[in-house]
Order: sequence, then C-alpha cells, then structure tokens
Amino acid sequence: MLKPNTRYGDLKEAYLFNTIYRKTNEYLISNAGKKVFRMGVGDVSLPLCPAVIQALHAAVEDQGRAATFHGYMPEAGDPALRKAIAEHYRDGGVEMDEHEIFVSSGACDDLGDILELFERDNSVMVIEPAYPEYVDTNLLAGRRIIHLSSNEEKGFLPEPCEEARADILYICSPNNPTGAAFSRSGLQAWVDFANEIGAVILFDAAYEIFIEDKEIPHSIYELEGADRCAIEICSLSKTAGFTGTRVGYTVVPRNLIRGGMNLNEMWARNRETRTNGVSYILQKGALAVFTPEGQRQIRDNLRIYKENAACFMRALEAAGIWYTGGKNAPYLWMKCPDGMSGWGFFDYLLKEIQVVGIPGEGFGACGRGYFRFSAFGNPEETKEAANRLYHLLERG
Ligand code: MLT
Repeated sequence: MLKPNTRYGDLKEAYLFNTIYRKTNEYLISNAGKKVFRMGVGDVSLPLCPAVIQALHAAVEDQGRAATFHGYMPEAGDPALRKAIAEHYRDGGVEMDEHEIFVSSGACDDLGDILELFERDNSVMVIEPAYPEYVDTNLLAGRRIIHLSSNEEKGFLPEPCEEARADILYICSPNNPTGAAFSRSGLQAWVDFANEIGAVILFDAAYEIFIEDKEIPHSIYELEGADRCAIEICSLSKTAGFTGTRVGYTVVPRNLIRGGMNLNEMWARNRETRTNGVSYILQKGALAVFTPEGQRQIRDNLRIYKENAACFMRALEAAGIWYTGGKNAPYLWMKCPDGMSGWGFFDYLLKEIQVVGIPGEGFGACGRGYFRFSAFGNPEETKEAANRLYHLLERG
C-alpha cells in the first residue's frame, strides 16, 4: 500500500512567511481603509536594474529567431554565466574553477535539493534562530536535527562546540534572521571544526553583498580549508532583485570529498537527472548582473536598502533598544520591549502603528522575545515605519 510521507504532520501548520501574509491580510479585512507597512517578509521592492531588463528583452528576441534560438540549456548552467561568476569570485580574491559553479533557480530550491547528496541517516545541525527551510527540509527527510541555540550574549554568533557535532552544519552569514555576521576568525573556527569531524557545511551566502566590515568574509572560500568542507549557496534574489525572477548559484568545490566520493561530480550528476537547467532568458538576465554596468546598478539599489536599514538602526538606537544586524545585513533583530513575546509584539505593532515584522519565535524557540525587520521595503514606507516604531517605543 502507498505510504505518504507522514512527516508532513510534523511541520508547523503553515510556513512562517505565509502565516505573516495571512495575519496581515486578516488585519486589513477587519480594519478597512488602514494602510500597513510591510517590513516583515524579506521580499525586494525595487525593480530589476536597466542592464538586466535590456538583457532579458534581447534574450526574448533571440528565442524568436531560428539563428539565435536556444532549446535545452546545459543543466549546470550557461558556460558564459558560470565563467562570469567565477570571475566575480576572482575579483573578490577567491580562485574558482567554473565547473565548481552550478547555476540554479534560486537558493531556496538548492538548499532543499542539495540534501540529495547525503543519506537520510546523517545528522544535521541548525543554528537557531534559523531560516525555517533548513529545519523543514530535514524534518521531511527524517534526519535527526540538532537545534543549536544562539543568544544575545554571544551576539547570536555561536562557536563550535560538542553539541554542534553533526554530519551537516548549516551556517548563514550574514544571518537571516538575526543580521549577525561571522568575523573571519569566527567562521574559520567552524571550517576547522567541520574538517576535524568530517562534516559538510552548507553555507548560505544569500546576503553577502550587504557586508560593509572588512573583517567579515563574503565567501566561506576566503577561509583556509573551506574548499574541503563547504558548499556555498548563493542567490541573485537579494543582490539583484531576482526574488520573482529566480536565478542563483551553488558552489561545490572539486576538493570536497566524503566517503571516497567527490561531491562536485555527484552534484553534476544530480543536475543531469534532476533539472533541464535554468531558462536561457533568465540566465541572460543574470549574466547582465555580472557586467560592470550591472554591478554599478545593483549597488545603486543596495545603497537604498542600506539606507532603509539605517532608518531602523537610528530608530532603535534612539529608543535605547538592543538589536543586532542592519550594518552588514538587510535584517534587524531587536529585543522586544517589556519582556513581550515576538507574537505579542507583532500584534501590538500591527494594532498601534500598522507595521508588520516577524516574531523571533517563528525562527525557533530561542527567538522568543525578539523581532525581525526587513530593509527591503519601499524607502518612503520604511522611513515612516521606523518613525512610527521610534515614537511607539518612546511612548512605552
Ligand atoms: C525572508 O523573509 O527571510 C526571506 O523572504 C527569505 C527568502 O528569501 O525566502
């Protein structure tokens, strides 16, 4: 008899971000005429940059002419795009072979798919508070999950420890949701730990473009030994506004070997079976991101998001509230006032100032009492939301 995956019953009733959308819509229905300021889900608000739009248009035209038409794309990505990404890494001081880069339809897809490299009886370590996908995908696969709590005292940047001993280690830096980012030495400690215990790090680098501080690495491969233990998962969603366009890339180094098997070759083989590649049109759009013009233009958008983050930082500092993030990340993680829970603060903000954020406990139990804001909102609305937040916190 067919057996469905009963572990679906172990998931929370709804995915966190869908719960936020639902609650916001319910508020709007029962409060007709009110405007809400959506600072919750980290979806971008600025359009794709002109270089990308131009490339997308040209690629659409290509598909309409026999001479330039493309059918199936190589599963691992357009060689021109893989090469451009390798050069981008090189510009950042990391040497990489283009065959170590796999173009994807976004980090979210690859974060789940990459688990096909590992048996289900491997254990997994997730630093919490965490992006919910890390937990959900492994719950569904039936893996044992170690929930390593991080805390305010350590700036939400835990060090490796006995409790963290697992086969697969998730690290996201700059972090979603806390916005905290590992220093070079902090991340090196995790790389050394992984190599020592034979684990593989799944390094989520979706927010690297937001890094300002020199001592924070943009790529895990800036660290000694990372090519022997880490897979890096990257996205154009937040760097270039591709949340609705869907292109990312994953790096699986050739030196990554476990149990005598080469994970780069395994992933190449996986892609052959599991995908027919990302569409020609989208890859052309992605290629434009890596041109000098594209890089200039995405950085213009980045400045706007950084100013959004600065608005929240100023509001929280002026109100004397503890927070992390915002400087090297598009997320701000604040301590709720008066011992409120994250969900309590969510309801309070929505009712009093119509600002939406995300309760910390949505990212794991140790997030209780904290709250996340995203800096990806519309700039005018972000200013207003930060201003309302400041006045509300001041009022107490
Ligand atoms: C978030 O709000 O954390 C983002 O939307 C995450 C994502 O990219 O899926």
